Formats: sequence, C-alpha cells, structure tokens
Amino acid sequence: MRSNLSVSRRGMLKILAASSAPLFLPRRMFGADAPSNKITVASIGVGWQGGSNLGSFLGCGDCRVVAICDVDEGHLNGAIKKVNEHYKSSDCKGYKDYRELLARKDIDAVAISTPDHWHSIPAIAAANAGKDIFCEKPLSKTLAEGIAMVEAVQKNKRIWQTGSWQRSQNFFRWAAELVQNGYIGKVTRCEVGLPSGHSDFEKTGHDKPNCEPPAGLDYEFWTGPSQMMPFNPCRFHKNWRWNYNTGGGQLMDWIGHHCDIGHWGLANPKFGCGPDDAIGPSEISATAEFPPKDDVWNTATKFKIECKYPNDVEVVIAGGYNEIKGGTKWIGPDGWVHVNRGVFETSKKEWQEEIKNKEKDGKLDITLYKSPGHQQEFLDSIKSRKRTLTPVEIAHRSQSPGHLGYIASVVGRKLKWDAAKQEIIGDDEATKLLSRTFRAPWHI
Ligand SMILES: NC(=O)c1ccc[n+]([C@@H]2O[C@H](COP(=O)([O-])OP(=O)(O)OC[C@H]3O[C@@H](n4cnc5c(N)ncnc54)[C@H](O)[C@@H]3O)[C@@H](O)[C@H]2O)c1
Repeated sequence: MRSNLSVSRRGMLKILAASSAPLFLPRRMFGADAPSNKITVASIGVGWQGGSNLGSFLGCGDCRVVAICDVDEGHLNGAIKKVNEHYKSSDCKGYKDYRELLARKDIDAVAISTPDHWHSIPAIAAANAGKDIFCEKPLSKTLAEGIAMVEAVQKNKRIWQTGSWQRSQNFFRWAAELVQNGYIGKVTRCEVGLPSGHSDFEKTGHDKPNCEPPAGLDYEFWTGPSQMMPFNPCRFHKNWRWNYNTGGGQLMDWIGHHCDIGHWGLANPKFGCGPDDAIGPSEISATAEFPPKDDVWNTATKFKIECKYPNDVEVVIAGGYNEIKGGTKWIGPDGWVHVNRGVFETSKKEWQEEIKNKEKDGKLDITLYKSPGHQQEFLDSIKSRKRTLTPVEIAHRSQSPGHLGYIASVVGRKLKWDAAKQEIIGDDEATKLLSRTFRAPWHI
C-alpha cells in the first residue's frame, strides 16, 4: 500500500472487499471533496523552507495543495500564486490564522514550516483536529513542548513526518546501515559536528536598529507565544534562529539533522543503544560561548556537549571544534563511518560498495527503508497508516540532547537525565529550563 494511491474511492472499496484482510475503512477517504480523491494538503508557514516543502508537495501526484497560511502577506500571496499557477486554477485558499485553516474538514494533512517558536501550538492543534502532519525540525522550541507533541500525535493516532530529510538520502541510509549491521563492532563513540557562529541568511547583519514591522506582516501573530520584543529586521525571517526568544542557534538548527542520523546508526541495541524512539543520554555535560543576553543575535557561537548513552556509548555534539568533523561519525573497535551532505567515508573503503550491493541483494541482517523522497514517504504513510521514517517520537529523541546540552551549558554543571521518565534528576533550576513561559493567550 505504500505507493498506489491513484485508486479511486470505489476502487479502494473493491480492493478491500476482495481482500482476505479484515475490512478496515478509514474515517474518511482522502480529501473526499478533492479532485480524484487525492490527499489534500495545506502549508502553514511558507518562507524559506516552507517554500521548498511546498514545491516538493506540488511535485507529488497523489496530493493536492488546497490552502496556504502565513502571517506575512507577501509570503502568503506568493505561495498562493505558485500553487494556482502549478494547477492552472484559482482554487487555493489563503489564511492568516492557522486555526481557520485547521477547522476545514476537507484538509487531510498540513505541512508546518513556521519558525521554531511556532511549531508546538499549531502542530498539537492539527493533531487534535485529526490532520496528519509534516513538521519541520527541530521538533520544538523546548523539550517539554516535544513531549506534549508526541502525546498529542499518539493520542490522535496521526501520521507524522519531520523535516529531517537526511533519512531519505542514500549516503545517510548506507552509513546508518553499516553501523547497525555491526561493521565497526559495538559503537563506543558517536561524534556529531554542527556549524558554529551565526549565518547571516538575510544579509541584515546583526546591528540594525529596531523599526516598524513591514506592511502586510502581522507581527503580533508572528511573535505569538514568544516574548514581545520591538521589531528588528535582524531577528526576523530566517535570522530569527539567532535569538533565543524564537530559535536555538546553530545547535538547535542542526541537531534534528546530524544527531538524528547519529541516533539512526545507534538504533540497533546490539551494536548501539537504540531503539531511536526511546534513546537518550543518562548524563550530559556542556560548555558554550554566548554573546551578551541582550544582543540581537544571542545564541551560542561555540559549544560542546558530552553525553553518556546506555551500553557505554559516548555521544559528543559540537560546533566550532575542528577535531569534530561536520556531520556524523560513529567509531567502534573495528573501524569508523563518517557521513555528511555529499560525504560518505569509511575506515575500510570497500564497505561503501559492499553495503550498496548487499542492500540491493537483500543480504543485510538489517535493511533500512529506502525512501521514495521525504514528502512522498509521508504521503505513502498517510495511505498505509504505517510510521514514517521520522515520526514524532524519533524526532523528539533526536532533538532532546540539544535541549539538554543547552540547559547544561546555561546552569554550568553536569545533568543527570532519566531518559525513560524524561526528567532531569535532582536539579530544579535545570528542570525549569525544560519549558518556557508562553505569552498570553497562547498555550498548549
Ligand atoms: N529541513 C531543513 O533542511 C530545513 C531548512 C531550513 C529551515 N528549516 C526549518 O523550517 C522552519 C522555518 O524556517 P525558515 O528558515 O523557512 O524560516 P522563515 O523565516 O524563512 O519562514 C517562516 C515563515 O513562517 C511564517 N510564520 C511565522 N509565524 C507564523 C504563524 N503563526 N502562522 C503562519 N505562518 C507563520 C513567516 O511569516 C515565514 O513566512 C524552521 O523550523 C527551520 O528550522 C528546515
């Protein structure tokens, strides 16, 4: 069922009736009101990554994008135009308030690509409204919000895909397969190398004065649950990442990519310490260099987080340390594997061909799912109701060491973490930092 969705409602009923499997009918067929019973998708947040996700969904034949939501009129109108031009129609509806969009019964799935401070609230509302959800990494602004998101998705039995698209790429899958199949023996250390400093995505620099928000932007809504600050172009589109009011700096921007891959490799309990939907450190020590708190860009510019994982695995997450290579590296008694975007290196070069061939010939003990594309895999899972490659539980565990590392660096001491209960042991000050105060009226 992973990939045959152009079946009509009537066709589907025939197939189900003819099959010997118990007859299970979904509450409603996909986008029953949409042309050809396609999965109906709406995009919430259509800036940089939201625009890219939208383009990918437009390229998937078994869904139809029917609505867009953004609090910036320029982004909203641009995305609606893109959708209507693609379908050569004028059907796509625009919203400034995601709650109105979620109230539509004919929408099956939403793609949420808002800034990090705006993930948990619409995602939980979408789960409660019965939508399947594609949501960007890092899963949430705080660890506590991640726990609430997992609960909401599980309670409502929703399909969830996180924007951690590296799991849909060959190099990352082959690397994780090598580790999970024991090529390097039992893993002793996993190194996660992230960028450091700040990247000026909008070419604003970090020292522009506060000013009036641009026309067409609902800045009150954009700020949402975060603390209201004067509008500053340097902490707006894309560059909101560099202020803790809205983002988490390079650490949280990248943790959902390279630590996610690290956990994927560790997901076999025999050679690593998985499974990756329950994995977590027991001890976390961290140091970081922070700009002054009231700088426009105040997120850590350099950081190192050292974690103890079960089964004597050490995980190090660092930004700004040359000895930790960018991407993910697993080290064991029999060798190492390193992977990054466009990079796949192994201590024994021949493993790179061997893993491809063995995977192709079905000769591996553990074969990881070969994704048809990250958005397509989400749509396939909506049809099959099987877990995606990056379900909410996994995304939450992938980001947790980043949140804990940040907290350890703020309080300046080692944390003890109960990964099963998801509690910091014996440290009230650190525990408070697992969550944030939401600005009224927003809450989860
Ligand atoms: N998977 C990846 O490779 C990848 C790459 C870049 C960004 N991201 C993630 O995507 C998310 C968005 O990042 P970005 O760089 O595209 O940011 P961005 O600032 O370019 O875009 C965010 C958009 O969301 C809109 N928005 C803000 N609040 C909203 C609300 N309440 N309702 C509707 N729209 C709202 C903004 O107006 C803007 O158009 C972040 O979580 C980021 O970490 C993922």
